Amino acid sequence: MKVVEDKKIYHGMDNSPSPWMMMSHFSNQLDNTVGVPFTIGDEDYGLYLRPNNKLLFSDVHVIFAWFFVAVSIVSISGVIWFAKHLIQPITKLTEATKEITRENFNYPLNIHRRDEIGQLAESFSRMQVQLQHNDEARKSFINNVSHDFQSPLMNIQGYAELLKTQALDEEHLEYVDIIDQESKRLSNLTKQLLLLTSLDQKSYPMKLGVTRIDKQIKDTVRRHQWRMEEKEIEISYHLPPAPILADPELLMTVWDNLLTNAIKYNQNGGSIFIQISENDDNATVSFKDTGIGMNKEQASKIFERFYRVDAARKKDGTGLGLSIVKHIIELHNGKIEVESEIQIGTTFTIKLPKDKQTEE
Ligand SMILES: Nc1ncnc2c1ncn2[C@@H]1O[C@H](COP(=O)(O)OP(=O)(O)O)[C@@H](O)[C@H]1O
Ligand SMILES: [Mg+2]
Repeated sequence: MKVVEDKKIYHGMDNSPSPWMMMSHFSNQLDNTVGVPFTIGDEDYGLYLRPNNKLLFSDVHVIFAWFFVAVSIVSISGVIWFAKHLIQPITKLTEATKEITRENFNYPLNIHRRDEIGQLAESFSRMQVQLQHNDEARKSFINNVSHDFQSPLMNIQGYAELLKTQALDEEHLEYVDIIDQESKRLSNLTKQLLLLTSLDQKSYPMKLGVTRIDKQIKDTVRRHQWRMEEKEIEISYHLPPAPILADPELLMTVWDNLLTNAIKYNQNGGSIFIQISENDDNATVSFKDTGIGMNKEQASKIFERFYRVDAARKKDGTGLGLSIVKHIIELHNGKIEVESEIQIGTTFTIKLPKDKQTEE
């Protein structure tokens, strides 16, 4: 060996093909060996040293493990931060969209960014303002028109009444009757439109109070007694005392609408049955009639605005009654369902929570 013969220090790394790769550090051959010559007495010796790869690798493992942990922590927190940064404004926009469907156009976005999401938020805010403007214009239009309709209609009705007292022949009396009926219908329609637009407001001011719905229904029945007598409709009810927390005036509109429908769409000599049943949480009211009924498809549409099953068959109607009823029941966090069969009859079932007025 050169170390012993030439008495030179041998440095294996000098022979390494690519010092930059540093691969030879870990190899188990001459490249990784250092040789030192020395003499003891007259004898020449060589001392060869090579690192212990096993020890070296166990150290490297630990270093790699720490490195891996550090990289994971940094990248995970980076991803979380980035996702939050990206998702937060999108969540806000989604929330704002939901609010718009509830007719709340003031949901604050507070997104100030210069990127595409910033632009989207800016357009969204502009859209909110425009929608609010349109909504207010629509409501005030309906409001004004409905109000302005009332006074000329009152005049028409007044003069029609006056004409009826004159000595008119039968044909003319019929015409006056039609004028009277139609103006009453129009007046009813405008009143219902007014009520609907005020119910439409995102926070209708409900005047809650303990309401005896059994008494309300009995009062309603009394007020419509003459109509039922006219059609020889028999009415029966089971109305135990049922106090609930509700807006009495609004609920009165509900009973009124359901009873007039049960009379209007009933057969001559038919019957109506009204009942209240209760459990701990809810009061359930049902209006059952033996009237003309409707099929499933028709029944699924009756809560829509202006929908009437057969507009020609019954003239005095607006198609707004049941949509108002549904609106009111939903304001009370209740539910309304209908079951109907043609020529057999119809049952409306209303479930109202007794006192849990949970705000949405
Ligand atoms: N008890 C009922 N029996 C049969 N049909 C009904 C009954 N109640 C409602 N309807 C149908 O549903 C439609 C919508 O009712 P509503 O909104 O009260 O409007 P309106 O009574 O002004 O026509 C009515 O036109 C009628 O065709
Ligand atoms: Mg009606």
